Amino acid sequence: MTHNTAPQQPPLYRLEEYRPTAYALPAVRLELDLRPAAARATAELDIVRRPGTRAGAPLVLDGDGLRLVSVALNGKALDHRAFHAAPERLEIINPPAEPFTLTIITELNPAANRALMGLYCSNGIFCTQCEAEGFRRITYFYDRPDVLSVYTVRLEADKAACPVLLANGNRQETGDLPGGRHFAVWHDPHPKPSYLFACVGGALEALEDSFTTQEGKKIELNIYVEPGKAARALYAMDSLKRAFAWDEAQFGRVYDLDIFNIVAVSDFNMGAMENKGLNIFNDKYVLADPQSATDSDYANIERVIAHEYFHNWTGNRITCRDWFQLCLKEGLTVYRDQEFSGDMRSRPVQRLIDTAFLTGTQFAEDAGPLAHPVRPRQYAEINNFYTATVYEKGAELVRMIATLLGEPAFKAAMTLYFDRHDGQACTIEDFIQCFADSSGRDFSQFMLWYEQAGTPLVTAAWAYDEAGGSLTVTLEQSLRPTAECRDKRPMPIPLRFGLVGPDGADMAYKTADKAVQGNVLLLTQAKQSFCFTGLSSRPAPSLLRGFSAPVRLVTGLTAKERLFLAVSDSDPVNRYQALRSLVTEALITAAAGKDSGAPALPPESAAIAAAVAQIAAEERLEPAFRAFCLSLPSEAELAEAQGSNVNPDRIFAARQSFLRLLATKGQTGFPVLRRHYRVKDTFSPIAAQAGRRAFANILAEYSLIAAGSPAIAAALYEKADNMTDRLAGLRLLLHYFPAAAATQQALADFETRFGDNALAMDKWFAAQATAAGPERLETIRQLTRHRLFSYDNPNRVRALIGSFAGQCPTGFHRPDGAAYRFLAAVILQIDRHNPQLAARLLGFMQGWRRLEPQRRGQMQAALQHIAAESALSRDVGDIVSRLLAPAA
Ligand code: PHE
Ligand code: ZN
Repeated sequence: MTHNTAPQQPPLYRLEEYRPTAYALPAVRLELDLRPAAARATAELDIVRRPGTRAGAPLVLDGDGLRLVSVALNGKALDHRAFHAAPERLEIINPPAEPFTLTIITELNPAANRALMGLYCSNGIFCTQCEAEGFRRITYFYDRPDVLSVYTVRLEADKAACPVLLANGNRQETGDLPGGRHFAVWHDPHPKPSYLFACVGGALEALEDSFTTQEGKKIELNIYVEPGKAARALYAMDSLKRAFAWDEAQFGRVYDLDIFNIVAVSDFNMGAMENKGLNIFNDKYVLADPQSATDSDYANIERVIAHEYFHNWTGNRITCRDWFQLCLKEGLTVYRDQEFSGDMRSRPVQRLIDTAFLTGTQFAEDAGPLAHPVRPRQYAEINNFYTATVYEKGAELVRMIATLLGEPAFKAAMTLYFDRHDGQACTIEDFIQCFADSSGRDFSQFMLWYEQAGTPLVTAAWAYDEAGGSLTVTLEQSLRPTAECRDKRPMPIPLRFGLVGPDGADMAYKTADKAVQGNVLLLTQAKQSFCFTGLSSRPAPSLLRGFSAPVRLVTGLTAKERLFLAVSDSDPVNRYQALRSLVTEALITAAAGKDSGAPALPPESAAIAAAVAQIAAEERLEPAFRAFCLSLPSEAELAEAQGSNVNPDRIFAARQSFLRLLATKGQTGFPVLRRHYRVKDTFSPIAAQAGRRAFANILAEYSLIAAGSPAIAAALYEKADNMTDRLAGLRLLLHYFPAAAATQQALADFETRFGDNALAMDKWFAAQATAAGPERLETIRQLTRHRLFSYDNPNRVRALIGSFAGQCPTGFHRPDGAAYRFLAAVILQIDRHNPQLAARLLGFMQGWRRLEPQRRGQMQAALQHIAAESALSRDVGDIVSRLLAPAA
């Protein structure tokens, strides 16, 4: 047997190795003396031996880079022979059999913490990030989600530098101290795992409001931001109050503390964090005003504010037993925020947004070397599992359960879940059992959805019997082998459907099949047929309506049938999917063609473009939906759909040809529509107005292509009274006329207008990073030297480097591999101070095997260069080894 010669394989954590801890830790008193370069944490832990633990069994706590000052047991300093201390571990060798307290003092340097995990300083604000394993960077602890403790936290800081001191729960006491210092004591009565601990200290301004619960209790709401920015938190506050009300109305979930605080910080690795009673946010999901935030920024604020709030029940009151169960809180909470956004906005458009993200991001993950089950069975670094699969596919699994049970039964089972498991750390089995018990159905096959990685492929074949008026569909499902499992089993797949008649209305049908319930076909076998009778003519079958399962569907329909559905289906998602499949096929046919010149569009492209133009003009349809139909699949999506031998330059060229074709088709119609739908009222972030802007701006793109001059974009930029339009203008200028004077002028103007607004400047960096062409790399290099660029700010890094790698295929995939080498160097540099951020960037290389040979070789070499680095973080080491591992 030969062994893999990878230098340092990190240990793997395995689901089946789960064991409860030897001791419980019911209460924690934590004192934090906040000082930028020398902070101190004094943790007094109540420790109780668990029933199954033998007396004297060692107590082993987690640490990460900790500097221990002292440790005392029941108030008495411990002799150095009674414990082992290392930066990553504290062992009490022979602890008492009876309950005792352990007092641990550690010394921290928050100012030097650039990893943004544990206690760190962001722009002069002390804050913490503990999920998943950041608490162990503050003190030694059982830093795992199944150890629940009641926390009392005392914060001490300089009063002038940190007038605001916050922690979880309710405020108990505040006071002044000698030397210009002060303190605050917070108590959280709800037992919680350490990852939900948080504290904040800084000079912050609060936007204050309140919410009165259905029980009549008045909750104090605060959003803390940097001084002067409170007005920019108004939309976040409004979203928060709507989220409170929605969770009461939809799930009967009421808030459970006197106060709910949100703090916005500018350096944050992720979107936001649901710490109990003290959510900490990446400020991009809090701050907005019409001048500097786009419509999608507003929508994202609403969504993320709700998401974090919803975690109060799905995540905090009921938490995860271990990190393998991450989807228990994340998938469910994403499902809840999707439903919330649907209710606040347009349900069909929200579903399109969510499925676009699912198919664009999660399907790509599932198709590549990072594929993993929604509930992974093993991990080397948990930070690498905050993925689209856990979040978005996880949400789809909950959605399928709701589809299978129907809304009332789904809600009843959710109530059972909340009642049964409140205050517990649970598993997916606990969750699913509630649906089984409440509905009386068998969910054992459904569990496969949590266990098998990869996107199922469903193919449909149709047979219509004219004489008998019957239609038979034969469905087959398959799932490619992935690292964790080669032999996949069939899963239950609910397919919402309708049979569309010639007039566009759904036809009535009969069926004796028990696997058809209402409008849902339930495919449970590898191959299964369903028969419908009583049909007066041959229908156009519309399958997977509402994207009712996270599968790839090959509809088995002809192009003609799909064209018909694109303009007639009553289900908006399937109208869109029908159109999308046609456009994608045409573009891939062109891109994959053997011709050496410009890719030629296949002849059916004209009819497809005509259908798009027809949809654009359809008055009954929401503008936002029409905007969706007018936007072509991104280059990345097309690469994914092509699957192998991808040449990004050819995809770009094919896409440009289709854009020109459509621009010509709409030459007379689009400008009229654009004038009609342009927003004339003063700006409001409401969905209806946002939809009109999205529609008008995509029409502007086609008009600009048809006109062949930058005038339309320049006018859009200059006349804008909001960021959506201004950014649309800037992007069009950069994409179509990068060298034009108008473009340089707009870039300079933007910098003058927004130079002191970091979130707006992120857009400026991103817009330049995504314009096309191999010479972009030079622009990127230059921008890394811009006075406002910093490798320490994750938002800025993602705006420039992430946007380039993810949304500028013609630049990133230069055939000479220079941009791959650039990204590899950036990753290695960032990895030294922020492994999480570095590992995220590495994800942009997950598609390397799909590229044509030259680029594939270049990217593989760049990956090997990273893998060869001796001091890789666990985060990057884990991802790079999975990317390079032989394909399953
Ligand atoms: N739990 C956060 C959320 O999804 C995400 C997060 C994970 C934030 C890890 C920080 C660190 O709501
Ligand atoms: Zn979440």
